[in-house]
Order: sequence, then C-alpha cells, then structure tokens
Amino acid sequence: MMTASNDLCKILLSEEALDARVKELAAKITDDYREKLDGKPLLVIGMLKGSFIFMSDLVRHIDLHCEIDFMIASSYGNGTESSGVITIKQDVKDVEGQHVLLVEDIVDSGYTMKCVLEMLKKRNPASLALCSLLDKPSRRQMPVDIDYCGFEIPDEFVVGYGLDYASRYRNLPYIGVLKPEMYS
Ligand code: IMP
Ligand code: MG
Repeated sequence: MMTASNDLCKILLSEEALDARVKELAAKITDDYREKLDGKPLLVIGMLKGSFIFMSDLVRHIDLHCEIDFMIASSYGNGTESSGVITIKQDVKDVEGQHVLLVEDIVDSGYTMKCVLEMLKKRNPASLALCSLLDKPSRRQMPVDIDYCGFEIPDEFVVGYGLDYASRYRNLPYIGVLKPEMYS
C-alpha cells in the first residue's frame, strides 16, 4: 500500500499526546518569559526543516510578543547517523540583545545543538534557551542542556510531526517508528 502511515511499525506519540505536551511547554514558556522580556519580543528561532510543525503549534500557544525566524543547519552523514560536522546553510539576522528561544525537533548526538548554541551565544543575546520536542539521551556524544524538553524517547529512529527519513514522513500528524525494512 503506497501510504505513508503504512510504513510505520508503531506509533510512539499520538496526536493527542503531542498536542497536550506542546500546550504544556508553551504555557511554561509564557510563564517563564512574562516578566523577563522587559518590553522586547521573544525571538523564536526554528531549526528547519525538522521543527516546522512543532514550532508552528508551539508558538500559537505562547501568549507573548514573538518574532519568528528560522535557521538551517546540516550535519553530513548517512541515513540516520550524524557526522559531527555541522554546516549553517541559512543563518538568522542579528540576535544581539534579543531573548532567543531556539526550537529543535530532536537532540540526538547533540552535535547540532552544541554547535548552534555556541555560535548564537557568541553573538551576545540577552538570553538563550533551547526547546526540543524530543530528546534521545542514550545517544548523546556532546552534552546539551535542554531548557524545555517535550519527551525523552528510547534509541529508535522516529519520523512524523516534522521529522523525516530520507526527506519523507514529515507530514505524518504523529510520531512513529518505521518498519525496519524501510531502511534498506
Ligand atoms: P544530532 O545528532 O543531535 O546533531 O541531531 C541532528 C539531527 O538529526 C536532528 O536535528 C534531526 O533532524 C536528526 N535526527 C536525529 N535523530 C532523528 C530521528 O530519530 N528521526 C529523525 N531525525 C532525527
Ligand atoms: Mg534537525
């Protein structure tokens, strides 16, 4: 059957689970920044492409003045492994003096977020925090502090809700695990 959902062996996070957690994260972010912003907007930077669905749901539940921007970073590697060599393919405008919330789909080895966070920090933002929908702590090579984490997940390659395998499956409305035969 040529449907996307048919390629999954299980659903790890349902639409309902994602929706509930995204609202919780947004409420916490709204709470934490309400007093802190001091008249400035919160600059929410989404890492493309993986964060596009998470970010669009998240910001609609953050009740603060926000500015939205995007970055593209790529780590060269094969299908499911990061190489640790990160290239910035699209950068953001100046972040100096801004309260920055970086939004990522998943922290796996940690190489991508370590690199991007260090790069942004050097540009002197007023504050810098990371919100990642997923965390796979068992895969970490580089320590990364996730200020707002949606879910810790086991060491399984997941797709959907923005996350891809070979550029596909981003449009699935939930997060699931591909059938092993889909990797070959
Ligand atoms: P890193 O290994 O922490 O640098 O993660 C780099 C990128 O790999 C993430 O931003 C994701 O786009 C991608 N990635 C890591 N694990 C998964 C997964 O299970 N499914 C889909 N993409 C993943
Ligand atoms: Mg990514």
